Amino acid sequence: MKFIKRETLKQKPDFNQLVFGKYMTDYMLEMDWDNGAWGEMTIKPYADFSLSPASMVLHYGQGIFEGAKAFKNEEGKITLFRIDANLNRMNKSAIRMSMPTFDVEQVKKGIEQLVSIEKDWIPVGEGKALYLRPTMIATEPTIGVKTCMHFKFYCICCPVASYLTGINSLCKIMIEDKYVRACVGGTGEAKCVGNYGASFLAMEEAKKKGYNQVLWLDVNHKYVEEVGTMNVMYVINGEVVTPALSGSILHGINRDSAITLLRGKGYTVREEYTDIADLLKAVKDGSLTEMFGVGTAAIVSPVGVLGYEGKDYEIGGNKVGPVSKLLFEEMMGIQRGKLPDKYGWVTEIKQ
Ligand SMILES: Cc1ncc(COP(=O)(O)O)c(C=O)c1O
Repeated sequence: MKFIKRETLKQKPDFNQLVFGKYMTDYMLEMDWDNGAWGEMTIKPYADFSLSPASMVLHYGQGIFEGAKAFKNEEGKITLFRIDANLNRMNKSAIRMSMPTFDVEQVKKGIEQLVSIEKDWIPVGEGKALYLRPTMIATEPTIGVKTCMHFKFYCICCPVASYLTGINSLCKIMIEDKYVRACVGGTGEAKCVGNYGASFLAMEEAKKKGYNQVLWLDVNHKYVEEVGTMNVMYVINGEVVTPALSGSILHGINRDSAITLLRGKGYTVREEYTDIADLLKAVKDGSLTEMFGVGTAAIVSPVGVLGYEGKDYEIGGNKVGPVSKLLFEEMMGIQRGKLPDKYGWVTEIKQ
C-alpha cells in the first residue's frame, strides 16, 4: 500500500454542527483496475480527480457504492461495524453491474488504515460517526456500448451526525403510488448509482407535500418494499414484520442485524410480503403499533405518520415505540463497543 502525505491538514468543521455528507476528510483510498487487474492501493490526499467526459460511468451509469461507518466511543475506542458485509455486498453489486470484484480482506485492510489515519475526524457522541463511502466507477473513455476495461475504486470519508430525524423525532413517510424504485430482475438488489438518480423525483415530490421520504411499493404497487434509503419494519400484534427479500429490495445490513438482534431478544420476526391494503388496515385498526426504517445512515428511524392518497395516518400515537428504542440502543451499544459483540460484527481499529 502506498501512502502520499498531505502538506497541510484541512480545518475540521464543528462536530456539533455537522451536515450529512458535506465535509470530506484529509485522505482517500484509491485503486485502479486496468485490463484485467487491480493496481496498487494508495492512500492519498482527498482531492478532485480528472475524468474524461467520455468516461463510461457518466454515460451508462456503471457505478456502485457502499455506506459504512466507523465509530469512536468516549474511551477513544475506534470500531468498524460489519465492514465485511458491506464489501461483500459491493462485490455482488459489481457482478450485477458487470464490474470487477476485489479481494475483500485487502480492501478491508486499506479501509482500516484509512480510518486509523483519519481518527481525529471521527466525532464522538450518540448518532455520530465517520461515514465511509467506498465507490467504484467505470472510467474507460469511450461512448461505445461495450465491456469496460478501466475502473476506479475509491473510498472517501465524512464525519456525520444522525441522518433524517434521529431516534428522538419521527418521520412522515408517503406511500409512493406513482413511481417505482426497482423490479425483480432489475438492479434493486445492487447498490448502483442509477437506483438513486431515479428516486430523486419521487423524493422531491413527497418533500413538497411535507413528507421526509417515500415508502416504495413493488412494480404493481401492491407489496411494501423499502423506504428511501432504509429497509422497513413494523410491529403488528407484538410481532415484528419486514418485507421479504423479493429480488428488488436492497439486502440491508442493518435489516439483517435488526432481525438477528430482535430474534435474540425473543421477538418473533417474520420476513414476508405485505400487501399495502393490509398494512393500512393494521394502521387503522391499531394492531400496527410501530413502524421504523433501518439503515446505516439513520440506524433506526421511527415513522410517526404514513401518508396515502392525500390522507395521513398516525402510527402508535406518533410516538417513538419500545421496539425502535430497544433496537437503536442495542445497535448503538454494539457499534460503539459499549455492549458485547455477540455476533462478531465489530472490527476494532488498532491505534
Ligand atoms: C435503498 C436502500 N435500502 C436499504 C438500505 C439500508 O441498507 P444498510 O442497512 O446496509 O445500510 C439502504 C442504505 O444503504 C438503501 O440505500
